Amino acid sequence: MPECPMPDRLDHFGPELLLDVPARGTRRRAVEEALREAIRAGRLTPGTRLPSTRDLAAQLRLSRGTVAQAYEQLAAEGWLTGRSGSGTRVADGVPQPGADRTAGDRAPAVRSRPGPRHDLRPGRPDARAFPRDAWGRATRWAIREAPADAFEDGDPRGRAELRGTLAAYLGRVRGVRVDAAHVIICSGYTQALGLLADTFGGLGMTGAGMENPSMPDHVTVVAARLRVADIGVDAGGMSVAGLAESGARVAVCTPAHQFPLGMSMSPERRSELVSWAQDSAGWIVEDDYDGEFRYDRRPIGALQSRLPARTVYVGSTSKSLGPAVRLGWIACPPPLLEPLTEAKRLARPSSTLEQLALARLIDSGDYDRHLRTVRRGYRQRRDQLAATVRSRLPQARVLGIEAGLHAILELPDGAPDEATVMRRLRAASVGVHPLGAYTRGPSGHAQEGPALVVGYGTPPAHRYQAAIGALAEELRGLLA
Ligand SMILES: Cc1ncc(COP(=O)(O)O)c(C=O)c1O
Repeated sequence: MPECPMPDRLDHFGPELLLDVPARGTRRRAVEEALREAIRAGRLTPGTRLPSTRDLAAQLRLSRGTVAQAYEQLAAEGWLTGRSGSGTRVADGVPQPGADRTAGDRAPAVRSRPGPRHDLRPGRPDARAFPRDAWGRATRWAIREAPADAFEDGDPRGRAELRGTLAAYLGRVRGVRVDAAHVIICSGYTQALGLLADTFGGLGMTGAGMENPSMPDHVTVVAARLRVADIGVDAGGMSVAGLAESGARVAVCTPAHQFPLGMSMSPERRSELVSWAQDSAGWIVEDDYDGEFRYDRRPIGALQSRLPARTVYVGSTSKSLGPAVRLGWIACPPPLLEPLTEAKRLARPSSTLEQLALARLIDSGDYDRHLRTVRRGYRQRRDQLAATVRSRLPQARVLGIEAGLHAILELPDGAPDEATVMRRLRAASVGVHPLGAYTRGPSGHAQEGPALVVGYGTPPAHRYQAAIGALAEELRGLLA
């Protein structure tokens, strides 16, 4: 059988293909059978582009004519199709594994369920507002300008460029006091929380006080390592008395905008919390998840600036850009730097190229410009929500709207319970969350009656008014 020499350069190759060509029979038949088998086994799915005859011949060390004949035969049998310009592909409708099984035999498909028609679920920004052009520019710049070492593993704290940029940025916009050496880049707040729980556990701490209500995923992450004490929240924020009583040495909180209730921690409570950390050698974990979105011209700086030595400040791009970016940052007190960096090293550093792109986005001013634009849009949405509730649901109250991308809609006395309200809203495809989904047991927080957490970031702008209109209409029906 004639053999093609392997070319020296492989850079003209199209798609690669792992093909188990049996040794028996003629070479053409063997290639045909190997392709049929790969299709039957589902390794080659309908639409998959195959290598060109030249490439496959070179890979298999066969003559090009042998592979071309095999492709022709399989096309004649309906296994392959040749489309001009796009090469040879696996045909649609070829038998796939499991096609002969009954529905009951099949593994359940993992499918993402479509969201509600009126999507007011909290915790998400408007995906359509992602600054594609600016991010594209920043990414291209990063790829072009990245030094060679950016393509290696590098410093587990993250790229020095981004750490330097963030130290300056966080000082400028959030009042955070940190130098670049003490910034650790991570993959968002939730990862940071897991790394911190490991770190605190490794340092011998056993308990963490967490606000009640708060994000259930965050509680799950911490509870995997530390005993979680539920700490009540009142109008001033997390109860420091409750924290002291719990004996925990770690306090996890959202001082700028309590999640989900929405109040900011009062100045008195901040002072109490700082004293608690100083007196009990405690650690504060500050989740500054939406600090960029403050609407009342009363910017509330980070608590970290009051006690950088004992506060771990954490921020994330999940609200400012979108959760797809998966980057966050930790301003780390010096004594925690080494164990936290080691925890991040074990979890592996975050994508270097994305880090360089984010640094570029911030340095170029595009990040600030983007935030100004989306902040304006979100403020309008918040105003629309408040106006709609005022006019169509005057019995209800909208709370926690000074900042962020969500509000609490407190239903009046005599309203049905949250489960009943949620059933009705679900039936009308209105997506919100009940406050109870964030509360663990009796919380003692201000909203004891039924309340909803309404996110106003998610729907596209043209569907927003309809979404809050549908919410108001359904609730009106329930409250009538
Ligand atoms: C309270 C709170 N903290 C932090 C985050 C950000 O988490 P991550 O950076 O892991 O996406 C969110 C995002 O939904 C949040 O709601």
